[in-house]
Amino acid sequence: MSTALNVVPTGGALGAQIADIDLTQPLLPDQVGQVRTALLDYGVVFFRNQRISEPDQVRFTSYFGQPVEHVRKQRERPVPEIFIISNLKEDGEPIGALGHGEVSFHSDLSYLRQPGTLSVLYAVEIPQEGGQTQWCNCTAAYADLDSDIKEQIKDLRAVHRHYVEEQNPPEMIHHPVVRTHPETGRKSLYVGPHLTKHIVGMKSGESAELLALLYAHLEQPRFIWTHEWQVGDLVLWDNRPTMHRRLPFPAHQRRLMKRTQIFNDEIPF
Ligand code: OGA
Ligand code: MN
Repeated sequence: MSTALNVVPTGGALGAQIADIDLTQPLLPDQVGQVRTALLDYGVVFFRNQRISEPDQVRFTSYFGQPVEHVRKQRERPVPEIFIISNLKEDGEPIGALGHGEVSFHSDLSYLRQPGTLSVLYAVEIPQEGGQTQWCNCTAAYADLDSDIKEQIKDLRAVHRHYVEEQNPPEMIHHPVVRTHPETGRKSLYVGPHLTKHIVGMKSGESAELLALLYAHLEQPRFIWTHEWQVGDLVLWDNRPTMHRRLPFPAHQRRLMKRTQIFNDEIPF
């Protein structure tokens, strides 16, 4: 049986909603194919009004690759593939990552040699103000660069490193500044202020200047789409052609998200 999914583009820089589907139920292979196609077309897809369990989220994630335990240690959880993103504390200890401040643009886990490919975030509690997530269409941003800049950056590589030193692998990790999506063949910019440190082989002033120019280009509103979270939203995104950032929210308001992650053993090229 084949059921056409209801894919509604946001009309913004990227993203589409997939409506009328209940993720507590397994998806048919044909539906999985349609979600995958929408993800390749729009970079980000989201589902609203979901009331899923942790195993439901892991099952959904597994349609697109192998969900893995997050590389960062968190307190023991019944479903180890679920990672908590939250500012909440229990017994004075944060129950999750990222706190309440701004998290600037990044592609997940780019400080690893084989970064995360797809990520899933499910909203359990959201603050009244702030805490939106914004995605940048890095494919559109690359396409829109002047040809002399495209020429200048075409073979450059950049070092990516987590600001918490223990998170990093022992070796220096660098990736192409312009990466090619393995499935669509499209090129996109692959640098962001949160995790990219410098351009390999450039003097530090020169590297900082080029990165600042690329970040200013990426951060133009026309490449950015803002997700206004509602409780029950599940967002699936492709980290290869997009970056995302989280806007700050008041420290005393509650935000609780559940996150799953797919790796797929890809080295950016
Ligand atoms: C993430 C992330 C942002 C957010 O889970 O990778 O960057 O809005 N989250 O919580
Ligand atoms: Mn992230």
